[in-house]
Formats: sequence, C-alpha cells, structure tokens
Amino acid sequence: MKSETIAIHGGYETDPTTKAVAVPIYQTVAYEFDSADHGAALFNLEIGGFRYSRISNPTTAVLERRIAQLEGGVDALCVASGQAALSYAILNLAGMGHNIVSVPQLYGTTYTLFGHILPSQGISVRFAASDSADAIEKLIDDNTRAVFCESVGNPAGNICDIESLAQVAERNGVPLVVDNTVATPILLRPIDYGAHIVVHSLTKFLGGHGTTLGGAVVDSGRFAWKDHARRFRQFNEPDASYHGLVYTDHFGAHAYIARARSVFQRTTGAILSPLSSFLLLQGIETVALRVERHVHNARRVAEFLRDDPRVEWVNYAGFPDHPHHALAQKYLGGRACSLLTFGVFGGLEAGKAFYDALRLIKRLVNMGDAKSLACHPASTTHRQMSAEEHARAGVKPEMIRLSIGIEHVDDIIADLDQALAASQARPAALRAAE
Ligand SMILES: Cc1ncc(COP(=O)(O)O)c(C=O)c1O
Repeated sequence: MKSETIAIHGGYETDPTTKAVAVPIYQTVAYEFDSADHGAALFNLEIGGFRYSRISNPTTAVLERRIAQLEGGVDALCVASGQAALSYAILNLAGMGHNIVSVPQLYGTTYTLFGHILPSQGISVRFAASDSADAIEKLIDDNTRAVFCESVGNPAGNICDIESLAQVAERNGVPLVVDNTVATPILLRPIDYGAHIVVHSLTKFLGGHGTTLGGAVVDSGRFAWKDHARRFRQFNEPDASYHGLVYTDHFGAHAYIARARSVFQRTTGAILSPLSSFLLLQGIETVALRVERHVHNARRVAEFLRDDPRVEWVNYAGFPDHPHHALAQKYLGGRACSLLTFGVFGGLEAGKAFYDALRLIKRLVNMGDAKSLACHPASTTHRQMSAEEHARAGVKPEMIRLSIGIEHVDDIIADLDQALAASQARPAALRAAE
C-alpha cells in the first residue's frame, strides 16, 4: 500500500468481536489468562498476546504497526514522547564505556541528552565537526555502537546525506539511527536509503494537532546483529534479566524492538497511554494531506520572506542557492519541509519585536501542528547551550523558527507582514525619541 493508504488502514482490521471500524481504545491495564499455563507461555514469550499494558496494549499495537509500515520497517515501539523514544533507541544499543557518533545539528533536548545525560551514564557522545560522512567516520572506533543524525535538523534545516551516512555506519559495523521527525515518512523514508533504525516524535507532524505527546522507534530489521556479535552482545548472548533469552535466536529480525520493549519499556515504563495512541492514530489518518499543504504554504512564506526588504536572511532548502538544495531534491523530492528559519534586520531587538507582534502565529515551542507556530530557539529550545554549542547546532541569536501550518497562506503572510512592520517600527521609534 502507498503511504496515504497505510496512514488510514495500516495495522488494523475491523475488530472481530465488536465490528468497530475506528480503532477501539483499550483502556485496560491487564489481560486475563485462560490458565496458569497460558500465563506462563505469555511470560516466556512463547506465544503472542497481551499481559500488562506497561509492555504492550492493543490500541498502541495498531499505532506501532501503522508507523512501522509507514517507515518501511519490520517493527515499532511507541512510547510516551520523542525523548523517551530517543533514549530507548540509544540505550538498546550502547552501555557503559561505549560511544555513539552524532552529527552536530540536533534538537536542543536531544543535544542535552547526548551531551550531558548519556555521558553521566557512561555512554559518551562524539559530535562530528559537520554532518558529512567523512567527519562521522573519523570518530568511529571499536567502542562505537551507533551513528546518529536528524534527517532534517531542527532548527538548522540541514538535510543529511542518509545514504552515505548509512554506508559509513554499515562499513564500520554499527547501525545508523535517524530522527525523522521533521521530514515525516511522507517526505522521506530513511530506511529506503539504508538507515537501520528510525526515531520519531509523534507529537509533531504525525499527530499533527498539538494535542498529544508520543514517540516511536522503528526497526528496519536489516542490521545483522549476529554478524557483529562481539559488539552487540546484548542481542546475541543470554539475557540474565529475562531468564536467559537470546534475542536474535528468539526474535530474528524483530530482536531490536523486542529487547527495547522487554528490557527498557518494561522496566522503566515510559508507555504511551491508549487514549494518546488513539489520538495519534486520528492525526496520522490525515498526515499525507496535511504535509502536502504544509509544504505548499512553507514555499509561499519562504518566497515572501526572501523578497521582503525587512528580512536579512531566510534558511529554506527549497531555494536553488541553499547549500542543501540538491539533498532536498534527492531525499525530499524537492518538497522542502515546512520548518524554516529567518532573521529580520535589526538583530536581536528587532527579532523580539517581530516575535511579540505576532497575532495569528502562536509563540511557543512546538512544531508540526496544523497551526502556524513561531519559536525563538536561542531563548527557549536551545537555551541550555553555550554560544559555541549554538554555532555548532546552527542557532543564531536573532533566529526565528517558523513551523508553517495549514491555514490559508494569505492569512499567514498577512500576520508575518504586520509583525515585520512592528519589528522595524521599534528601532525607528527609539531613534525618533533620541
Ligand atoms: C527533531 C525532534 N526530535 C525529538 C523531539 C522530542 O520530541 P517530544 O517533545 O515528543 O519528546 C523533538 C521535539 O521538538 C524534535 O524536534
């Protein structure tokens, strides 16, 4: 099935008991066993089925199948937020004494996770000088357990060359993990270009309405854990925490998600509630239509900003002179994402005046909502970083990040226009007062 169809039907068939066509919300903690033997077989993972909703839940299971299908993976684990998904994705690969190698352009909290939290648990993160395959490869050694990138960096808007990063990872015997939140599987499926694991914040475009937090880890099923048994002992040797289970023997291509679920979700419990799964499924049904409109509106907005004399610079990969334009053509089919950044003339003060004057566009830290949103990364999402870290992540002091929504584009542009007028009025008024 094509993505548009998977988004509506993937992973669910009319409920056999009730004939419910919409995915039911299974608001239950536990599931009754037929007998002691049935319970034991479930706990031994000898048969499929549900035991307890901290491990799996039928509503969330539909979401997991749907996301896996959308990304072209074999399996998915859906959890409470994008950050939980990122944490589980990495912890499932790396432990004390290991490292991961990452591109430098990252979402702020991911940067904090990598730069501060994982190191405090004994996992170091090596930030490459750039997102190029060469810069990444230089940092890989025997203790490396993954290469990490955002397919489209938030907020830098850089587009990673997934194919070459996947080749470098493969050549060095480690998986490539890609955060595909900004692009969505509608614009890009990293697994088609060799990525091994894909992570999402479902909170953004997939949910699409700014109502529900969620995250997903998707496995391509293609990484050869057995060929790299010394590096990835956790999948190939008996797991003492699960009565000696060997994940690759028991689950084959599903080993990675099975372990993420039965080790990390089961013991640390960042589960997605069934109601959240239901709401996210509602959002996903329209993701293809929404992304089409997001992309169309973003282009019109980018062109408006580029042509406006009050705007100093616009960072939008849809323009032919953008350094990542060729990558946008290759990986996004020319459909540059609706997350774009720009700076007004007049520096930080003018940028703040612009931000304060917005009326329709919401001032907040989120993206991928049906509503247009604006954020000032230096004072919010990327606030914890130093000036040097800002430079590495592509964050400028005056930078405004827009997530262009699906309202009528004329109304979005009218709001930007009046806010731009306000941005230039304040310095003029100050000048007049002098
Ligand atoms: C690229 C990216 N990944 C992950 C996250 C974290 O997602 P969540 O807020 O669902 O934890 C975000 C949040 O903005 C993001 O932009």
